[in-house]
Amino acid sequence: MSEVDVVTPFAEAGYQISPDAAEMIASHRSPEALVEHILATIDESVFVIGVEHIDLDGFEHKYKLELPTRASATYASIQPDSSLSSYQTSVNPVEVLFDITNQSTCVGEYVEFTQYFRNRYSKLGEMIRGRINARPIESLTRNRRRVKTLQEGGNRDYNEVSVIGMVSDIKITTNGHKIIELEDPTGSFSALVRVVDKELFEHANSLVLDEVIGVTGPLTNDGNLMIVNKITMPELPNGMGRRTGTSGKAVFISDVHIGSSTFLENAWCDFIDFLKGNVSNEALRCISKEIRYLVVAGDLVDGIGIFPDQEKELQILDIYEQYRKAAEYFREIPQHIKVIIGPGNHDAVRQAEPQPRFPDYITADFPENITFVGNPALVNLDGVKVLMYHGRSIDDLVQSVPGVSYQEPTTAMVEMMKRRHLSPTYGSRVSIAPEKYDHFVIDQVPDILHCGHVHTVGIQQYKNVLLINSGTWQSQTEFQKRVNLMPVPAQVPVVDLYTFKTSLLKFD
Ligand SMILES: [Fe+2]
Repeated sequence: MSEVDVVTPFAEAGYQISPDAAEMIASHRSPEALVEHILATIDESVFVIGVEHIDLDGFEHKYKLELPTRASATYASIQPDSSLSSYQTSVNPVEVLFDITNQSTCVGEYVEFTQYFRNRYSKLGEMIRGRINARPIESLTRNRRRVKTLQEGGNRDYNEVSVIGMVSDIKITTNGHKIIELEDPTGSFSALVRVVDKELFEHANSLVLDEVIGVTGPLTNDGNLMIVNKITMPELPNGMGRRTGTSGKAVFISDVHIGSSTFLENAWCDFIDFLKGNVSNEALRCISKEIRYLVVAGDLVDGIGIFPDQEKELQILDIYEQYRKAAEYFREIPQHIKVIIGPGNHDAVRQAEPQPRFPDYITADFPENITFVGNPALVNLDGVKVLMYHGRSIDDLVQSVPGVSYQEPTTAMVEMMKRRHLSPTYGSRVSIAPEKYDHFVIDQVPDILHCGHVHTVGIQQYKNVLLINSGTWQSQTEFQKRVNLMPVPAQVPVVDLYTFKTSLLKFD
């Protein structure tokens, strides 16, 4: 329910409502029910409904009695202490479904690269195979099928074939057409996208190296080239029903950069106070009481030696001290809030992705309510699946896909979902370790994809997946000044885990 929706039912009942009260209701996990409760219990002599007229305790009590019917068993433990919300007394389970930690097998041999790309091809190819009747590339080149060249205005379905391949090269002909080179385990093949096919050509413009696609179309007379009529991506399935999750709220942050001289300590401490419920604003205190999870998608500290002359921009010069300081901050977070932390490119784990979780000598200082995971990682938060990825590949996608920008980071995340892959291009900004399995393939469709890295904020629903790019706790760095990147610090997306509605809290 938006703030406007909050105002309307009160106006219809003859009341006005103050902005604070409207915000408090709109940010509640169950605004419709709360509006009903207020209208049923309000003193009729009141003309303008303020925060003081909202009987939240009475509503919470009624709400708790109803809650176990739609919340999971682990969540349903309700305590009689009405000063605590049930979120503050429940288990708030965290299950790591998938990450690289303790599973890395690669040593960098040639054969491992072959195995890695075959795994990528087979997983993504399988997603496309259900939608087109594809044949191996080898069968096209071996038979040298003779088919008629597509005539202008001719029947496009005539002798069409489909293949699924990994994009190995993209070239432009002298006439401005695109030639896409595709490879599968049996061979390679060229596919031509004509500049006159505007929509298709635009699609071809957004293709990146090493992604897996399906192409459909007739072959030229010599059987060496396909004239593409259709490009099929792995994509998310259509028609997935809108699901509801569990209860309570989750907070998504990243790029804290503790140890940097541009770390915004005051804003960060305000955020920690908010998590502790130490805020004067009643609406914020209500939100705080509902928080069950804090998810951190990498760059917990600024690190050392990440870029030239970094030491000039560091306040804490020792990497261990940076993590000790981080642990100090995280010990202040209430124990009932379960924290999940993955690494980023500034953290003290291997730079090649997928990255394992922090080593024990770092995690030992942190409290027990923290689960450390790798990058990427798929976690289950009481029934809500969150795919965490720091987001280094956004650098690649901004470079290669038209319309993808740092200012709107979810544009890159949409491209990941279309490709069902977090980091499609090999050998560019992301150094990818050739593991046995491609950990970047989005096998299981998550409820939420959470990235960071680019220090700007984005929230977008794409099909059935909520995309969140959380900002940073660092003001503009020297590097960002040079590349004219304006960060969005101290803004925090908070997701209602039942409705998946997201609000953005500002601590700047
Ligand atoms: Fe960062």
